[in-house]
Amino acid sequence: MKPSKHFETRAIRTQSERSSQGEHSAPIYATSSFIFEDAEHARALFSNEIEGNIYSRYSNPNNDEFIDKLCLLEGCEDGMAMASGMAAMFTSMAAFLNQGDHLLICRSVFGSTHQITTQLLPRWGITHTYVDIDRPESWESAVEPNTKMFFLETPSNPGLDIIDLGFASAICKKHGIMLNVDNCFATPYIQQPALWGADIVTHSATKFIDGQGRVLGGAILGPKKIIEKVRFFARHTGPAMSPFHGWLLSKSLETLPVRMEKHCENAMNLALFLEEKNGVNWVKYPFLPKHPQHDIARKQMKLGGGLVTFELDGGLKAGQKFWDNIRMISRSSNLGDTRTIATHPASTTHSKLSAEERAAVGITDGLIRISVGLEHIDDIISDISQAVDQADG
Ligand SMILES: Cc1ncc(COP(=O)(O)O)c(C=O)c1O
Repeated sequence: MKPSKHFETRAIRTQSERSSQGEHSAPIYATSSFIFEDAEHARALFSNEIEGNIYSRYSNPNNDEFIDKLCLLEGCEDGMAMASGMAAMFTSMAAFLNQGDHLLICRSVFGSTHQITTQLLPRWGITHTYVDIDRPESWESAVEPNTKMFFLETPSNPGLDIIDLGFASAICKKHGIMLNVDNCFATPYIQQPALWGADIVTHSATKFIDGQGRVLGGAILGPKKIIEKVRFFARHTGPAMSPFHGWLLSKSLETLPVRMEKHCENAMNLALFLEEKNGVNWVKYPFLPKHPQHDIARKQMKLGGGLVTFELDGGLKAGQKFWDNIRMISRSSNLGDTRTIATHPASTTHSKLSAEERAAVGITDGLIRISVGLEHIDDIISDISQAVDQADG
């Protein structure tokens, strides 16, 4: 069913119930526990006969407001706020995978997701197979009888490769596998994986959802039946979001549409500039016609996103020289901030991968990832241009 209000309105007008104070902006419910009206009220809450707050590890009005908004924006029924993106990724796997299960996963996932898959899940007897984004015809043959979940990121980090969500979902439906999509690079303003058949949508809210580099946060969204299992796992293992972060992130969602429009406009302009720049071997941006999965990006994404990657001629040395010479742009490994950030993945976020593993996911030594911020585009381009010139020298 089509939602009755527009995305922008839903992002602003979804709000927890007003208190007797009549506040316009939601207060912060800085409380670890909640009181019961009487013994019967407590009994009914604990036996799940009625809904309500018991303890902030279980639920809190600020986190609920954040999740209610995110569910409306993603087209999901239910969800749970998590303390960080990685708490969301891990919980979304651990709540469902049992000893002897198999995980299908895209090779080009975020570094810590890769560490969970290769270092932690095997400790509990959970095996995995990596599949390559650019060989979708090979995915179905990687399905095993015990495959329980397919985990993917699109656009991928930092390669900005695009996966056809409808295609991945069809394989999952055919084999009875849960599809889990990390939607942190796109945000629901640009792409809604549940509408393409994802069973679980995961987020690092630390990125564009916060949008200002202030707090860590995460979320897991999906149908009520799935979230029930997530809730059971999370209530008892404790990856809960702080109410302050829930309050902040709910406020952040109110400006998500306008921020994403500008991030994407700046990113597109930067990509067009870099296509013509001497010293740059190639540029990758989902909405550039040259992008290898451009048609898929146009099909499932409203805009191209806030990230641009490019390769400097000159490898590792050029990458590090570029990084040393940026003046305004921040040297950081984060993304999705108002401030433009440059990252050199080969020497930082993906340095734990072997050279072969990096090559397999397209991370070359001279690759630079730019999280394009909201500064004036001329200032962003001018800083990048002079740093490319210096790296090329
Ligand atoms: C695609 C993706 N997923 C998950 C995470 C982890 O999120 P967090 O840092 O909030 O734990 C990141 C962090 O950079 C990311 O880029």
